[in-house]
Amino acid sequence: MTEQTTLSLPHRFAAGDPSAPILLLLHGTGGDENDLIPLRAALDPAAGYLSPRGPVRERGAARWFRRLAEGVFDHEDVVVRANQLADFVLEAREAYGLHDRRLVAVGFSNGANIAAAMLLLRPEVVPESILFAAMSPLPDPPEQDLNGARVFLSSGASDPMAPVESADLLVKTLRTRKADVSLHRHLRGHGIAPDDVAAARAWLAARTR
Ligand code: MLT
Repeated sequence: MTEQTTLSLPHRFAAGDPSAPILLLLHGTGGDENDLIPLRAALDPAAGYLSPRGPVRERGAARWFRRLAEGVFDHEDVVVRANQLADFVLEAREAYGLHDRRLVAVGFSNGANIAAAMLLLRPEVVPESILFAAMSPLPDPPEQDLNGARVFLSSGASDPMAPVESADLLVKTLRTRKADVSLHRHLRGHGIAPDDVAAARAWLAARTR
């Protein structure tokens, strides 16, 4: 069942099975809160979801933070918006009574980038992330201890929008801070293919609360 409570970001929510995780679904540029909902069934049919809409508009397209050009981020806005999203998650945990639920961010492209920023800045809010086509979102994130954080990152060797160099920098940044990172490198471009989803599903199932 989908519920909608008034919170600081428009969103969709479904509780799922109480013993399964809640997936925080974060769409890419131009998407909305409906986009990634089909991924829930592919990753874990018992899972619930919390699926907000990005608060920034770029010529009408919803995003999670401002950018100056493609791949050139407004880093001050990345920090502000990562905190905004973290605050929304805490608000939703309270509103929907999710205190004991395992919460896993699942982001694509711009949604993966804000999930990575939130993990680097506020790791206690959502310590597990599945990142499809992510880049390094911040040039100089704080030296936090991310021991206990778990990240699955899928990255395309031919992705012109999230280049491997930037994805590799993100992996290095996370591992230097002691996060447990599984890198799934494929040969395709910017997207989510069935084998990426299968790898993410196996990663998600490998740990239960
Ligand atoms: C971003 O702006 O986050 C990345 O360039 C990916 C995109 O949304 O196009």
